[in-house]
Amino acid sequence: MLSAAGTTTRESSIAVPSSIAVPFTRLDFSDPALLEELLGAVRDIAQRGAFTLGEPVEAFEQEFAAYCETDFAIGVSSGTEALVLALRALEIGPGDEVIVPTNSFIATAEAVSAVGATPRLVDVDPDSHLITAEIVAANLTPNVRCVIPVHLFGATVDLDPILALTHEAGVHVIEDACQAHGARYRGRRTGSLGVIGCFSFYPTKNLGAWGDGGAVTTNVPELAERIQLLRAHGERPRYQHRIVGTTARLDALQAAVLRGKLARLDSWNEARRRLGSELRERLSATPSGASGGRAIEVTGLPFAEADHVYHLFVVRTEERDALREHLSQRGVASAIHYPEPIHLTEAYAHLGLGPGSLPVSERLARQICSLPLFPSMTDTESEHVAAAVLAFTEDDLTSSR
Ligand SMILES: Cc1ncc(COP(=O)(O)O)c(C=O)c1O
Repeated sequence: MLSAAGTTTRESSIAVPSSIAVPFTRLDFSDPALLEELLGAVRDIAQRGAFTLGEPVEAFEQEFAAYCETDFAIGVSSGTEALVLALRALEIGPGDEVIVPTNSFIATAEAVSAVGATPRLVDVDPDSHLITAEIVAANLTPNVRCVIPVHLFGATVDLDPILALTHEAGVHVIEDACQAHGARYRGRRTGSLGVIGCFSFYPTKNLGAWGDGGAVTTNVPELAERIQLLRAHGERPRYQHRIVGTTARLDALQAAVLRGKLARLDSWNEARRRLGSELRERLSATPSGASGGRAIEVTGLPFAEADHVYHLFVVRTEERDALREHLSQRGVASAIHYPEPIHLTEAYAHLGLGPGSLPVSERLARQICSLPLFPSMTDTESEHVAAAVLAFTEDDLTSSR
């Protein structure tokens, strides 16, 4: 995680206070009341010695299912395990292909590889950076048994057209909602749209644990039962092993932390939505003369009524590395999500998809920059980020005169 450092060193017509440092994100220790509450919940678990499954996990599962508006939620050890168990529950394995956007965190593809299936890596829309029904349709080979749309950055994929065409083809949809807890697609929560939804509670996520954690959501009782068995050695009751499973439980300590934070998730997401649309608005003031290299484009919304819970606020520019250097000098942290599309990683070289094969994602990987955005961000911090970005485009105008 990048932290903010440095102060303003460059002149610009936009006044930027030199003393502000804006971190990329801010974790729970910055909220003393929340910290105390969560420490109390952790102490309670430790004093009871009830670390594995049991009441805290079951209570969280019920609350998270209610929140996602699904019949079941199963707490698991990470978002990656959530995807693996979802694929295993659907009996996807060797010989099967699973459509995965190459513009995602590598875990989406790794889960497919982990069950012995083959990720069919596909390109994304150049504006929203998300998979679309057209892209899915163009890649529905006879071996494809599943599609994993990723609600990347917190923006909802336009799922209805994908659900319609996969339903027709008898193909499953597993939502990767690891970056989009609480977002609503046409009124429905992410995680309730595909046959299974998968969530990560990695600490920096919109709903983050104090370590690793994840959840699987579904409305299908048989799948819920199978995932419950798979995450704990196929065991029910104790020492009766019905199927070959694994150790992939959500820790009770993490469940206790997550319960405290789930109660705040909607208000945090609301803050993210507000900050995201304000930042969009401020950056729309990018001088129209800024062109070519230093022009800044904000990631587009995937469709008119799309929801966006701004797990990440992503912009594009030809001169991404110069932008990041410029921001760093002004105390603004930044990051890249992700510097390499999955098909160009060393790990997936064996798929034989070389440079130029999925060109949109390859171009995006060179241009994208994630700006700070987190619920406790102050207006001053948000204005500072916008001013620093705008100053970058202004420098372009100045230097090209
Ligand atoms: C889109 C996406 N999918 C899957 C994962 C995997 O989650 P975890 O890190 O909890 O295994 C992540 C988390 O970083 C993610 O962002």
